[in-house]
Amino acid sequence: MPSKNVSLKTEEELKQAINQEKLPQHVAIIMDGNGRWAKKRLLTRVMGHREGIKSVRAIVEASVEVKIPVLTLYAFSVENWSRPKWEVNTLMKLLVEYLRKELAKMMNHNIRLMSIGDDSKLPDPVRDELHYTIGQTGQNKGMILNLALNYSGHQEILEATKKIAIDFKKGKIQEKDINEELFSQYLFTHGLPDPDLLIRTSGEMRLSNFLLWQLAYAEFWITPILWPDFSRKEFYQAILSYQTRQRRFGRVIEE
Ligand code: FPP
Repeated sequence: MPSKNVSLKTEEELKQAINQEKLPQHVAIIMDGNGRWAKKRLLTRVMGHREGIKSVRAIVEASVEVKIPVLTLYAFSVENWSRPKWEVNTLMKLLVEYLRKELAKMMNHNIRLMSIGDDSKLPDPVRDELHYTIGQTGQNKGMILNLALNYSGHQEILEATKKIAIDFKKGKIQEKDINEELFSQYLFTHGLPDPDLLIRTSGEMRLSNFLLWQLAYAEFWITPILWPDFSRKEFYQAILSYQTRQRRFGRVIEE
């Protein structure tokens, strides 16, 4: 957790304190707490999600400014389909709205959009807008904004395993070729570094089927702050905390 000194600093001071040499190469975020944020204010859950989009905008901008190479946001899980139909429909509408509104900004900031998850099950308007935005931003060389949509870590691992079995049967790979590096290439995130930092808002202490393979050595930052209240300041604090961690990857570091 942030020390007292850190939390007393202004947003700009926190941003300036970030060491560019030790930036996390990939930050993944479980954006939780939109519903609780709304409930506390006697608003509808949808209003919570709308407010959550404001945090998405702020954190994408902050990531571009501090030069985070990859930002992955958990926008919709496979399990989220079991929410009330009206909430699912609204989340889908909000996604389309977000993609339409943000395209110009993505182009200006040189952001390349990517998505992970089974997009074949997304409603047509969402899939069309997603593919259009991915196509339009495809040549951008700045930050990668990766949206997890209809995503499940278990399903991702199972799909990778099936594809490996198919390639094995075809004789494209042999048993001795199957190692961590090869397995990673069969995941949705192939070509991306694994997340160095995982942020989860609203205080829940679980992974919720998110990037199960890729988070093996990630550093966690869990904050009680609900996603609509999560600001640049907390984001910078999370990065600063990450930069103080000694990452051992299972090894012993001699003093
Ligand atoms: C969790 O809050 C949030 C979600 C399931 C969806 C996250 C979606 C957004 C922030 C908006 C759309 C995203 C993008 C990228 C445009 P919750 O509803 O589970 O909150 P609760 O746990 O308090 O009920």
